[in-house]
Amino acid sequence: MRVLITGVKGQLGVELSRALAGGGEVIGRDLPELDITGAACADQVAALEPDWVVHAAAATDVDGCERDPAMALAVNGEGTRRVAEGCRLAGAGLVYISTDFVFDGQKGSPYLETDAPVPVSAYGRSKLAGEHAVQETVSRWTVVRTAWLYGVHEKNFVKTIVGKAAAGEQLRVVDDQVGSPTYARDLAAAIAELLTRGLTGVFHLTNGGSCSWFEFTREILRQGGFSATGVLPISSRELARPARRPAYSVLANGAWERAGLSALRPWPQALAAMLEAWRAAGPVAVPVFPARLT
Ligand SMILES: NC(=O)c1ccc[n+]([C@@H]2O[C@H](COP(=O)([O-])OP(=O)(O)OC[C@H]3O[C@@H](n4cnc5c(N)ncnc54)[C@H](OP(=O)(O)O)[C@@H]3O)[C@@H](O)[C@H]2O)c1
Repeated sequence: MRVLITGVKGQLGVELSRALAGGGEVIGRDLPELDITGAACADQVAALEPDWVVHAAAATDVDGCERDPAMALAVNGEGTRRVAEGCRLAGAGLVYISTDFVFDGQKGSPYLETDAPVPVSAYGRSKLAGEHAVQETVSRWTVVRTAWLYGVHEKNFVKTIVGKAAAGEQLRVVDDQVGSPTYARDLAAAIAELLTRGLTGVFHLTNGGSCSWFEFTREILRQGGFSATGVLPISSRELARPARRPAYSVLANGAWERAGLSALRPWPQALAAMLEAWRAAGPVAVPVFPARLT
Protein backbone atom coordinates (compact mmCIF):
# COMPACT_ATOMS: atom_id res chain seq x y z
CA MET A 1 0.00 0.00 0.00
CA ARG A 2 1.27 3.44 -0.95
CA VAL A 3 0.16 6.15 1.50
CA LEU A 4 0.56 9.90 1.09
CA ILE A 5 0.53 11.99 4.30
CA THR A 6 -0.23 15.70 3.96
CA GLY A 7 0.92 18.01 6.76
CA VAL A 8 3.73 15.54 7.49
CA LYS A 9 5.75 18.10 9.48
CA GLY A 10 2.90 18.71 11.94
CA GLN A 11 2.53 17.03 15.31
CA LEU A 12 0.23 14.31 13.94
CA GLY A 13 2.01 14.06 10.58
CA VAL A 14 5.33 13.12 12.20
CA GLU A 15 3.63 10.39 14.22
CA LEU A 16 1.75 9.13 11.16
CA SER A 17 5.04 8.68 9.28
CA ARG A 18 6.28 6.57 12.16
CA ALA A 19 3.08 4.55 12.58
CA LEU A 20 2.69 3.78 8.87
CA ALA A 21 6.36 3.07 8.18
CA GLY A 22 6.07 -0.71 8.60
CA GLY A 23 3.00 -1.15 6.41
CA GLY A 24 4.16 -0.21 2.91
CA GLU A 25 5.44 2.86 1.11
CA VAL A 26 4.92 6.18 2.87
CA ILE A 27 5.25 9.54 1.13
CA GLY A 28 5.15 12.71 3.24
CA ARG A 29 4.39 16.21 1.96
CA ASP A 30 3.99 19.62 3.61
CA LEU A 31 4.55 23.28 2.85
CA PRO A 32 6.27 24.50 0.79
CA GLU A 33 6.46 21.57 -1.66
CA LEU A 34 2.74 20.79 -1.44
CA ASP A 35 0.51 23.79 -0.77
CA ILE A 36 -3.06 22.55 -0.60
CA THR A 37 -4.34 26.01 -1.50
CA GLY A 38 -2.41 25.94 -4.78
CA ALA A 39 -4.13 25.37 -8.14
CA ALA A 40 -1.74 22.48 -8.87
CA CYS A 41 -2.56 20.60 -5.65
CA ALA A 42 -4.98 18.00 -7.08
CA ASP A 43 -2.61 17.12 -9.94
CA GLN A 44 0.34 16.96 -7.54
CA VAL A 45 -1.53 14.52 -5.29
CA ALA A 46 -2.67 12.39 -8.25
CA ALA A 47 0.85 12.30 -9.73
CA LEU A 48 2.11 10.58 -6.57
CA GLU A 49 -0.30 7.68 -7.34
CA PRO A 50 -1.26 6.95 -3.72
CA ASP A 51 -3.61 4.12 -2.72
CA TRP A 52 -4.64 6.18 0.32
CA VAL A 53 -4.07 9.76 1.42
CA VAL A 54 -4.08 10.67 5.10
CA HIS A 55 -4.87 14.37 5.02
CA ALA A 56 -3.52 15.98 8.20
CA ALA A 57 -2.53 19.37 6.73
CA ALA A 58 -4.65 22.19 8.10
CA ALA A 59 -4.74 25.70 9.43
CA THR A 60 -4.92 24.77 13.13
CA ASP A 61 -4.57 28.14 14.92
CA VAL A 62 -8.18 28.43 16.12
CA ASP A 63 -7.96 32.15 16.98
CA GLY A 64 -6.00 32.85 13.79
CA CYS A 65 -8.85 31.24 11.84
CA GLU A 66 -11.36 33.45 13.68
CA ARG A 67 -9.41 36.55 12.69
CA ASP A 68 -9.15 35.40 9.07
CA PRO A 69 -12.10 33.13 8.22
CA ALA A 70 -11.37 33.37 4.48
CA MET A 71 -7.90 31.90 5.08
CA ALA A 72 -9.44 29.15 7.24
CA LEU A 73 -11.90 28.19 4.52
CA ALA A 74 -9.24 28.39 1.80
CA VAL A 75 -7.00 25.91 3.64
CA ASN A 76 -9.38 23.64 5.54
CA GLY A 77 -12.35 23.71 3.19
CA GLU A 78 -11.19 24.39 -0.37
CA GLY A 79 -7.69 22.98 0.24
CA THR A 80 -9.27 19.75 1.41
CA ARG A 81 -11.48 19.73 -1.70
CA ARG A 82 -8.30 19.92 -3.84
CA VAL A 83 -6.73 17.02 -1.95
CA ALA A 84 -9.98 15.06 -2.39
CA GLU A 85 -10.02 15.85 -6.11
CA GLY A 86 -6.45 14.49 -6.34
CA CYS A 87 -7.64 11.30 -4.65
CA ARG A 88 -10.53 11.02 -7.10
CA LEU A 89 -8.15 11.40 -10.05
CA ALA A 90 -5.80 8.74 -8.61
CA GLY A 91 -8.60 6.40 -7.49
CA ALA A 92 -7.25 6.72 -3.94
CA GLY A 93 -9.08 6.51 -0.62
CA LEU A 94 -8.93 9.51 1.71
CA VAL A 95 -8.64 9.71 5.50
CA TYR A 96 -9.51 13.24 6.61
CA ILE A 97 -8.59 14.41 10.11
CA SER A 98 -11.38 16.50 11.59
CA THR A 99 -12.17 17.91 15.01
CA ASP A 100 -14.44 18.04 18.05
CA PHE A 101 -14.84 21.74 17.17
CA VAL A 102 -17.48 20.80 14.56
CA PHE A 103 -19.83 20.54 17.58
CA ASP A 104 -21.27 23.41 19.61
CA GLY A 105 -20.59 21.78 22.99
CA GLN A 106 -24.15 22.18 24.25
CA LYS A 107 -25.16 18.49 24.26
CA GLY A 108 -23.87 17.75 27.76
CA SER A 109 -23.02 14.09 27.02
CA PRO A 110 -20.45 12.52 24.66
CA TYR A 111 -21.03 13.26 20.97
CA LEU A 112 -21.87 10.33 18.69
CA GLU A 113 -20.62 10.05 15.10
CA THR A 114 -24.25 10.51 14.03
CA ASP A 115 -24.86 13.75 15.97
CA ALA A 116 -25.41 16.80 13.77
CA PRO A 117 -22.37 19.11 13.68
CA VAL A 118 -23.04 22.76 14.64
CA PRO A 119 -19.68 24.57 14.68
CA VAL A 120 -19.39 27.82 16.67
CA SER A 121 -16.05 29.06 15.30
CA ALA A 122 -14.52 29.85 11.90
CA TYR A 123 -12.08 26.96 12.44
CA GLY A 124 -14.94 24.54 13.17
CA ARG A 125 -16.92 25.75 10.14
CA SER A 126 -13.89 25.40 7.87
CA LYS A 127 -13.14 21.86 9.11
CA LEU A 128 -16.79 20.90 8.58
CA ALA A 129 -16.54 22.30 5.04
CA GLY A 130 -13.56 19.95 4.62
CA GLU A 131 -15.66 16.99 5.79
CA HIS A 132 -18.34 17.85 3.23
CA ALA A 133 -15.76 18.27 0.44
CA VAL A 134 -14.34 14.81 1.19
CA GLN A 135 -17.75 13.14 1.27
CA GLU A 136 -18.87 14.82 -1.97
CA THR A 137 -15.70 14.08 -3.95
CA VAL A 138 -14.27 10.68 -3.02
CA SER A 139 -16.02 7.31 -2.92
CA ARG A 140 -13.69 5.67 -0.34
CA TRP A 141 -13.43 8.05 2.60
CA THR A 142 -12.87 8.03 6.36
CA VAL A 143 -13.43 11.07 8.56
CA VAL A 144 -11.55 10.85 11.87
CA ARG A 145 -12.68 13.44 14.41
CA THR A 146 -10.22 13.89 17.25
CA ALA A 147 -9.59 16.46 19.99
CA TRP A 148 -7.04 18.33 22.10
CA LEU A 149 -4.03 16.86 20.28
CA TYR A 150 -0.54 17.00 21.74
CA GLY A 151 2.68 15.13 21.12
CA VAL A 152 6.45 15.21 21.32
CA HIS A 153 6.76 17.18 18.08
CA GLU A 154 5.77 20.78 17.40
CA LYS A 155 4.16 23.29 19.74
CA ASN A 156 1.22 22.18 21.85
CA PHE A 157 -0.53 22.70 25.17
CA VAL A 158 1.49 20.16 27.18
CA LYS A 159 4.83 21.58 26.06
CA THR A 160 3.65 25.14 26.68
CA ILE A 161 2.53 24.30 30.24
CA VAL A 162 5.80 22.53 31.04
CA GLY A 163 7.78 25.47 29.64
CA LYS A 164 5.82 28.02 31.68
CA ALA A 165 5.97 25.93 34.86
CA ALA A 166 9.73 25.55 34.46
CA ALA A 167 10.00 29.34 34.10
CA GLY A 168 8.12 29.71 37.41
CA GLU A 169 5.12 31.41 35.82
CA GLN A 170 1.79 31.50 37.63
CA LEU A 171 -0.68 29.77 35.28
CA ARG A 172 -4.35 30.69 34.78
CA VAL A 173 -6.24 28.02 32.84
CA VAL A 174 -9.90 27.66 31.88
CA ASP A 175 -11.99 25.24 33.90
CA ASP A 176 -15.24 25.46 31.90
CA GLN A 177 -14.24 23.62 28.71
CA VAL A 178 -14.25 19.83 28.91
CA GLY A 179 -12.78 17.44 26.36
CA SER A 180 -10.46 14.48 25.86
CA PRO A 181 -6.73 15.20 25.54
CA THR A 182 -5.32 12.92 22.84
CA TYR A 183 -1.72 11.85 22.31
CA ALA A 184 -0.79 12.16 18.62
CA ARG A 185 1.16 8.88 18.79
CA ASP A 186 -1.92 6.95 19.97
CA LEU A 187 -4.09 8.59 17.31
CA ALA A 188 -1.56 7.78 14.57
CA ALA A 189 -1.49 4.12 15.63
CA ALA A 190 -5.30 4.03 15.53
CA ILE A 191 -5.36 5.58 12.04
CA ALA A 192 -2.84 2.96 10.88
CA GLU A 193 -5.25 0.31 12.20
CA LEU A 194 -8.17 1.84 10.27
CA LEU A 195 -6.07 1.75 7.09
CA THR A 196 -4.93 -1.82 7.64
CA ARG A 197 -8.53 -2.92 8.06
CA GLY A 198 -9.80 -0.71 5.23
CA LEU A 199 -12.48 0.79 7.51
CA THR A 200 -14.45 3.73 6.12
CA GLY A 201 -17.05 6.17 7.48
CA VAL A 202 -16.98 8.61 10.38
CA PHE A 203 -14.90 7.68 13.45
CA HIS A 204 -14.50 9.59 16.70
CA LEU A 205 -11.02 8.81 18.06
CA THR A 206 -9.61 10.18 21.31
CA ASN A 207 -7.84 8.89 24.37
CA GLY A 208 -10.25 7.68 27.07
CA GLY A 209 -11.85 9.83 29.75
CA SER A 210 -12.29 13.59 29.89
CA CYS A 211 -11.23 16.65 31.87
CA SER A 212 -11.19 20.43 31.76
CA TRP A 213 -8.10 22.30 30.56
CA PHE A 214 -7.51 23.22 34.23
CA GLU A 215 -7.66 19.55 35.30
CA PHE A 216 -5.40 18.62 32.39
CA THR A 217 -2.90 21.27 33.51
CA ARG A 218 -2.91 20.00 37.08
CA GLU A 219 -2.10 16.49 35.84
CA ILE A 220 0.67 17.79 33.55
CA LEU A 221 2.18 19.60 36.54
CA ARG A 222 1.82 16.57 38.80
CA GLN A 223 3.35 14.15 36.32
CA GLY A 224 6.02 16.68 35.37
CA GLY A 225 7.17 17.05 38.97
CA PHE A 226 5.97 20.65 39.38
CA SER A 227 3.88 22.13 42.17
CA ALA A 228 0.13 21.94 41.47
CA THR A 229 -0.34 25.26 43.31
CA GLY A 230 1.12 27.03 40.28
CA VAL A 231 -2.24 26.97 38.44
CA LEU A 232 -5.48 28.85 39.04
CA PRO A 233 -8.84 28.04 37.41
CA ILE A 234 -10.48 30.78 35.35
CA SER A 235 -13.52 31.01 33.07
CA SER A 236 -13.51 31.24 29.27
CA ARG A 237 -15.09 34.69 29.65
CA GLU A 238 -12.08 35.88 31.68
CA LEU A 239 -9.67 34.57 29.04
CA ALA A 240 -11.60 36.35 26.24
CA ARG A 241 -10.12 34.56 23.23
CA PRO A 242 -11.33 35.61 19.74
CA ALA A 243 -12.87 32.20 18.92
CA ARG A 244 -15.66 30.55 20.87
CA ARG A 245 -14.85 27.01 22.00
CA PRO A 246 -17.36 24.23 22.74
CA ALA A 247 -17.99 23.93 26.50
CA TYR A 248 -18.23 20.14 26.35
CA SER A 249 -16.82 18.31 23.33
CA VAL A 250 -16.18 14.78 24.54
CA LEU A 251 -16.40 12.34 21.61
CA ALA A 252 -17.87 8.86 22.16
CA ASN A 253 -15.59 6.48 20.22
CA GLY A 254 -18.57 4.30 19.27
CA ALA A 255 -17.78 3.40 15.65
CA TRP A 256 -14.27 2.34 16.67
CA GLU A 257 -15.59 0.11 19.45
CA ARG A 258 -18.34 -1.36 17.23
CA ALA A 259 -15.60 -2.37 14.78
CA GLY A 260 -14.24 -4.57 17.58
CA LEU A 261 -11.20 -2.39 18.30
CA SER A 262 -9.91 -1.72 21.83
CA ALA A 263 -10.52 1.69 23.32
CA LEU A 264 -7.53 4.04 23.28
CA ARG A 265 -5.88 4.21 26.71
CA PRO A 266 -7.08 6.74 29.32
CA TRP A 267 -5.68 10.23 28.81
CA PRO A 268 -3.53 10.33 32.01
CA GLN A 269 -1.70 7.17 30.86
CA ALA A 270 -1.20 8.63 27.41
CA LEU A 271 0.15 11.85 28.95
CA ALA A 272 2.67 9.81 30.98
CA ALA A 273 3.80 8.08 27.77
CA MET A 274 4.22 11.40 25.97
CA LEU A 275 6.23 12.93 28.82
CA GLU A 276 8.42 9.83 28.88
CA ALA A 277 8.96 9.94 25.09
CA TRP A 278 9.70 13.67 25.28
CA ARG A 279 12.18 13.14 28.08
CA ALA A 280 13.81 10.30 26.15
CA ALA A 281 14.26 12.65 23.18
CA GLY A 282 17.11 14.18 25.20
CA PRO A 283 18.18 17.39 26.90
CA VAL A 284 18.08 19.48 23.72
CA ALA A 285 14.45 18.57 23.13
CA VAL A 286 13.57 18.85 26.83
CA PRO A 287 15.53 21.69 28.39
CA VAL A 288 12.94 22.52 31.01
CA PHE A 289 11.97 19.55 33.18
CA PRO A 290 12.83 19.73 36.86
CA ALA A 291 15.66 17.45 37.96
CA ARG A 292 13.33 14.64 39.09
CA LEU A 293 12.28 13.89 35.51
CA THR A 294 15.53 14.39 33.63
N1 LIG B 1 -4.19 20.28 17.27
C1 LIG B 1 -5.37 19.89 17.76
O1 LIG B 1 -5.66 20.06 18.96
C2 LIG B 1 -6.36 19.22 16.86
C3 LIG B 1 -7.60 18.80 17.41
C4 LIG B 1 -8.52 18.17 16.57
C5 LIG B 1 -8.22 17.97 15.24
N2 LIG B 1 -7.04 18.40 14.73
C6 LIG B 1 -6.76 18.18 13.32
O2 LIG B 1 -5.71 17.23 13.24
C7 LIG B 1 -4.91 17.49 12.08
C8 LIG B 1 -3.45 17.55 12.48
O3 LIG B 1 -3.29 18.59 13.44
P1 LIG B 1 -1.87 18.97 14.03
O4 LIG B 1 -2.10 19.39 15.44
O5 LIG B 1 -0.87 17.92 13.70
O6 LIG B 1 -1.57 20.27 13.19
P2 LIG B 1 -0.17 21.03 12.94
O7 LIG B 1 0.87 20.56 13.90
O8 LIG B 1 -0.54 22.48 12.87
O9 LIG B 1 0.23 20.50 11.48
C9 LIG B 1 -0.46 20.89 10.34
C10 LIG B 1 0.52 20.92 9.20
O10 LIG B 1 -0.18 21.37 8.02
C11 LIG B 1 0.65 22.35 7.39
N3 LIG B 1 -0.10 23.25 6.54
C12 LIG B 1 -0.74 24.41 6.89
N4 LIG B 1 -1.25 25.02 5.80
C13 LIG B 1 -0.93 24.23 4.73
C14 LIG B 1 -1.14 24.36 3.34
N5 LIG B 1 -1.76 25.41 2.80
N6 LIG B 1 -0.67 23.37 2.53
C15 LIG B 1 -0.01 22.31 3.05
N7 LIG B 1 0.24 22.15 4.37
C16 LIG B 1 -0.21 23.11 5.20
C17 LIG B 1 1.30 23.07 8.55
O11 LIG B 1 2.44 23.82 8.09
P3 LIG B 1 2.83 25.17 8.91
O12 LIG B 1 3.15 24.73 10.31
O13 LIG B 1 4.04 25.66 8.13
O14 LIG B 1 1.65 26.06 8.83
C18 LIG B 1 1.68 21.89 9.45
O15 LIG B 1 2.91 21.31 9.11
C19 LIG B 1 -5.46 18.77 11.47
O16 LIG B 1 -6.32 18.43 10.41
C20 LIG B 1 -6.27 19.40 12.58
O17 LIG B 1 -7.32 20.19 12.09
C21 LIG B 1 -6.09 19.02 15.51
